[in-house]
Amino acid sequence: MTHERWRMGFHLMPPTGWLNDPNGLCQYHGTYHVFHQYSPDWPQPGAPRGWGHFASEDLVHWRSDGTAFAIAPDTPDEASGAYSGCAVPGEDGVRLYYTGNVKEPGDHDYVRTGRRAAQILIEAVEGREPGTLSLGEKNVLLRNPDYPAFCTCHVRDPKVWREGGAWWMILGARDTDDRGLVLRLRSEDGLSWENVGAVRTGEPFGFMWECPDRVALDGRAWLSICPQGMEGRPWSGGLRDVSGYLPLPDGAALASEDGDDLVLDARRFRLWDHGFDFYAPQSFVDESGRTILIGWMGMPEAPWESAPEGLSWCHCLTVPRELAADGASVLQRPVAELEALRGERHELAADGTLVLPEHRADVLLAGVEGSLELVLDGALRLACAGGSVRLEFLDERVGAGRKVRETACDEVRDLRVLVDDSAVEVFVNDGALAFATRWFPRSEHLTLVQKGQALLHAWEMGDGMAGTYA
Ligand code: FRU
Repeated sequence: MTHERWRMGFHLMPPTGWLNDPNGLCQYHGTYHVFHQYSPDWPQPGAPRGWGHFASEDLVHWRSDGTAFAIAPDTPDEASGAYSGCAVPGEDGVRLYYTGNVKEPGDHDYVRTGRRAAQILIEAVEGREPGTLSLGEKNVLLRNPDYPAFCTCHVRDPKVWREGGAWWMILGARDTDDRGLVLRLRSEDGLSWENVGAVRTGEPFGFMWECPDRVALDGRAWLSICPQGMEGRPWSGGLRDVSGYLPLPDGAALASEDGDDLVLDARRFRLWDHGFDFYAPQSFVDESGRTILIGWMGMPEAPWESAPEGLSWCHCLTVPRELAADGASVLQRPVAELEALRGERHELAADGTLVLPEHRADVLLAGVEGSLELVLDGALRLACAGGSVRLEFLDERVGAGRKVRETACDEVRDLRVLVDDSAVEVFVNDGALAFATRWFPRSEHLTLVQKGQALLHAWEMGDGMAGTYA
């Protein structure tokens, strides 16, 4: 068994090097573009970070730029990294907005001094080859003096959209009281921007909010944020940084010229995902009108390992998840396109064991009644009992430091488990809860053991990534 064994078949991962946040998600002229934070020279110390790129027509078969940067950190305004950002497709092409990060040499705390954050625009047009993008020059739109005086140097991760005849931007920020917040900006042309207000919570909620995103479904809207400094919260599982969403109050809008702070109720915060490895998700609306979310299956400052045994690559993205409103919460369902990879089907009517030839499977458990347990490879147990769903590693080597994640759930009705070599994603009750985790299975075959009442269907899954790095 080699390290190649842990490469995935339907999760985006780099050929070598480090990947984090999804960036610039969009569909343009039929082609889906997934950019991401990328450091091809990782694990070399100080390896530069820029954007990598994948493209696809069907969200299942992907083309990759390999280890080449799509956006390289090659100007003075991004000397320490071309950081996260978004895409806005339009009639004239795709606009990419992102943060140029600069850490100045010297004796700095890099919060109040020593760090620069520029918001940069690149206009991209369709390339000569269909389905490709040709990126234009870099234009700096905003620099630190342009942000409100209450901000520290930490201002980044623009999310831009068009609404009501104007352009709107939200930026994640840390203020001088070390509270996380979001800045709101407005523009007539998407080039010159003015601050129109901030979004905060009534109570302090972390010291910095990264990667803000806006989700709008069925006339409701949510602000997605990644607050840092959450380790003391009962639901954070000890993690410093988490990722979740807050509903906007009825009648409130991010796209509003009202300069007052928009104050959200932190008690309504919900995690996007309850697994071990999920952060910095970004959503986009595709050409058919679906809102799709992709997360980084990784975690800053994680207390566990994601490249055990000297793997030459680190981290992957989640599968694309289609979002739907469910009251004040958001359902996440793997996009239907993934079903194209389904192959041979297996079935278990109740307690029993299934052995699949490879670690790639789409497992559906319907009609769950009472408590239920599903154990993968004798190493990863998913237990639905006593009002909670629990993901627990029974084999430490396979979890590489991951142990238990648990969340309340009164009644489990159905489960979907996507197993893709070293990635597992679990969806409970039609996407009401999600759990993303990496694991590093040691066995050649995938063994599923079910204990409890449910009808289990397991499809072997094909390899959508077979030609990706060719
Ligand atoms: C989130 C983040 C962003 C930043 C990027 C840098 O994981 O810290 O705030 O833009 O990663 O790679």
